[in-house]
Amino acid sequence: MLNLVLFGPPGAGKGTQAEFLIETFGLIHLSTGDLLRSEIAAQTELGIAAKKNMDKGELVPDAIVIGMIKSKLEAHKEAKGFIFDGFPRTVDQAKALDVLLNENNTPISAMLCLQVETNELIDRLLSRGKVSGRADDQNQSIIENRIAVYTQKTFPLIEYYTPQGKHYNIDGMGSVEEIAGRLKAVVEKL
Ligand code: AP5
Ligand code: MG
Repeated sequence: MLNLVLFGPPGAGKGTQAEFLIETFGLIHLSTGDLLRSEIAAQTELGIAAKKNMDKGELVPDAIVIGMIKSKLEAHKEAKGFIFDGFPRTVDQAKALDVLLNENNTPISAMLCLQVETNELIDRLLSRGKVSGRADDQNQSIIENRIAVYTQKTFPLIEYYTPQGKHYNIDGMGSVEEIAGRLKAVVEKL
């Protein structure tokens, strides 16, 4: 089983590259951001509560996202593997994911960290904001807050996966195809 954590700051290209990886390796894509936006669209209680955090660029509580991932793992017991995109985002989420995966003896294979310059992140997200309608893409200060939250709470996860020999840096600058090629090369060697 191939379980990949696709990691990197907001706008690094996690969602974009996940599309390639699911096709190439036949994996299930689990994006907590996408799952939360579906809850918002369906106006569920969970979605309405999460939106308050998301619109400000803050994280939603660990228990909510861990619960969503747990139910998705249970719903896809036959999967060849998963791509976790935008999850885990805190050390507590990473520990909870390990517990869930260990129940099935299917640990994380690799954490693939897309590295992109901050100016490029801001440019990508502001451009998307013009068409996406995503509240958190609409202005530079919210985008900067998302990047600050990443730096403070999420980036330290590298220290969680490195001692396990699972952390790989991937240059996330360049064309979508070039970056997909770099990711494929790393995953094929796992
Ligand atoms: P989430 O949806 O995960 O957003 P994010 O990580 O802030 O960033 P994006 O998803 O926008 O970036 P991405 O890396 O996927 O890049 P993409 O491929 O889209 O989270 C949103 C919010 O939900 C969080 O702030 C939080 O509130 C909450 N949340 C989610 N998960 C959570 C968790 N685990 N715990 C707690 N809270 C959680 O690309 C971005 C843009 O760039 C696109 O327009 C794309 O077309 C373009 N692009 C991509 N690649 C390239 C390239 N190579 N060159 C030029 N443009 C490119
Ligand atoms: Mg995304």
